[in-house]
Amino acid sequence: MTITVIGHGYVGLVSACVFADFGNKVWVIGHTPEKLDRLRSGDPIIYEPGLAEMLQENNRAGRLIFTDQYEPAISESEIVFITVGTPPKADGSADLSAVYKVAENIGHHISSKFTVISCKSTVPVGTNLAVEKIIKKVNPKANIAVASCPEFLREGSALSDTLVPDRVVLGSNSKRAIDKLLELHKPLPGKRVTTNLASSEMIKYASNSMLATKISFANLISLYCEQTGADVEEVLDAVGMDSRIGRTFMYAGVGYGGSCFPKDVQALADTGKKLGLDTGLLDSVERINHLARENFLKHVLQEVKGKKIGILGLAFKPDTDDIRFAPSVYIIEQLIKKGFTVTGYDMAAMGNIRKIFGDKITLVEDAFSAIKDADAVLVLTEWNEFKQIDLKKVRSLVKTPLLFDGRNIYDPIKMKELGFTYSGVGRADTK
Ligand code: UGA
Repeated sequence: MTITVIGHGYVGLVSACVFADFGNKVWVIGHTPEKLDRLRSGDPIIYEPGLAEMLQENNRAGRLIFTDQYEPAISESEIVFITVGTPPKADGSADLSAVYKVAENIGHHISSKFTVISCKSTVPVGTNLAVEKIIKKVNPKANIAVASCPEFLREGSALSDTLVPDRVVLGSNSKRAIDKLLELHKPLPGKRVTTNLASSEMIKYASNSMLATKISFANLISLYCEQTGADVEEVLDAVGMDSRIGRTFMYAGVGYGGSCFPKDVQALADTGKKLGLDTGLLDSVERINHLARENFLKHVLQEVKGKKIGILGLAFKPDTDDIRFAPSVYIIEQLIKKGFTVTGYDMAAMGNIRKIFGDKITLVEDAFSAIKDADAVLVLTEWNEFKQIDLKKVRSLVKTPLLFDGRNIYDPIKMKELGFTYSGVGRADTK
């Protein structure tokens, strides 16, 4: 099959590589020549395990073609995926201007051959219908059917999530479009959910909001634990043993970040408000997420006496260089404002942190240099490298053995034995 993917961020590039790997010819449309050159040379731009190899292999095979032109990509393709960004606007609603601009461009280039147009970007209910309207307004003869084909990949495990999905959700009011999409997704395992447009669009927001709700619930319980002497890990372990609840994705910490949960929870709340619904639950999920990082910072500010802070982990989660809405960004900003000297280390995200903070932060090439002579150590991302780090060495290098574990990766009792004053999130026996 020949398909087009418009946009080459996480969703676009990973989907394009996977579909090309299955033997399809995939056009990828972007608009920044420098980025397109990097992609052609096999550099995926984003950090994602395994992606560079897949990109290079499919470039070599000639199945991936990067271009800034809509022709001949659109007229050749049976399916066109829209995967451009939908960032949050100041009021929390999704900014759909890039999606609509792309729809207009498609309208100018679509042929009279039947083509499926499918949003893989996360878009509010009704967006795919709006896309159809725009294309048909530009080109009343366009022979298209719109479909929603949400993506559930996580950064850091994007390839395995795409290759082994729990489910493939396909929503359209056109059976012909669903059949085309089923054919394209045939090599993938996982359950198939075929539904109408609105349900498919809702499934994506409901999934991300449910996951965010689990995290905020864990963080709320951690606040109770902190004040009562209960231990959030033991509490949630036992709660999660109820098979109706489960333990996965219910870990307390400095809160969720990234380009999805913060934006999608707000966007769903915004849709709810427009529909006249009570969005209290979603508003609280978002509020508790902020509270998680504020509460962590409050402890740091109360307990650290010196001025030198060493931070381990800057990315919003492990295995990515992404720092969008990362708790680290807020925490570093506040620490710098209060006059602390911050030294940080991360396996992948230092380049992005440098872009925000410039020379206001010191970035070093290994964990031990980051915590050397520190008055406190903050762990903000649970990279594997930190989980079994030589804590005796850490203890010997710091000035003050004060460790704030924002991801609860260490055992409070062991930390105490090692001579640390350990502060986890909602952990008993941490002081
Ligand atoms: C999330 C979803 O998990 C994907 O299914 C979805 O496709 C994607 O958004 C999207 O909409 O594109 P992602 O943002 O890459 O994926 O990362 P997650 O692994 O979901 O983690 C998000 C944040 O939640 C991270 O900051 C992580 O540290 C935090 N988290 C996660 C917790 O604080 N506690 C947990 O128990 C789990």
